[in-house]
Amino acid sequence: MPSDRTFTMIKPDALEKGHVGAILNKINASGFRIVSMKMTQMSLRDAELFYAVHKERPFFGELVSFMSRGPIVAAILEKENAVDDFRTLIGATNPEEAVEGTLRKQFATSMGENAVHGSDSNENAEIEGAFHFSGREMF
Ligand code: RTP
Ligand code: MG
Repeated sequence: MPSDRTFTMIKPDALEKGHVGAILNKINASGFRIVSMKMTQMSLRDAELFYAVHKERPFFGELVSFMSRGPIVAAILEKENAVDDFRTLIGATNPEEAVEGTLRKQFATSMGENAVHGSDSNENAEIEGAFHFSGREMF
């Protein structure tokens, strides 16, 4: 994936609360172009694979159970400096530390249920995008 792309998931908590439209609006208004997008649900096994880098962490069980408990919206986004700019848009992992105007400040409930995922590097953006989308689903 080119380095001007990132991967995101609107997480189950945000879908349960009906925040998808508002989050997508803000993503568009912040200059990101949608390359790929779908509503899908990860199985427990999918979530374990997706978050394998965290498998030794104490919150791993909680994380994979949360991420597979309901549908998500997965998307690939394009913008110059996409990975860093999207991390800025979503804000800190812990919504209490997220700055005003960020997606997590506005929509997250807790450290675990924090509304939106954003890739943390170009390399992971590529791996995560390919986890959810085939080449024919990238536009
Ligand atoms: P994400 O990968 O979802 O964009 O979040 P992140 O980079 O800001 O945070 P990361 O360290 O990658 O952690 C992945 C997700 O695990 C949950 N988490 N819970 N209870 C805890 O201490 C804790 N720490 C992390 C969060 O849902 C976080 O987004
Ligand atoms: Mg992360």
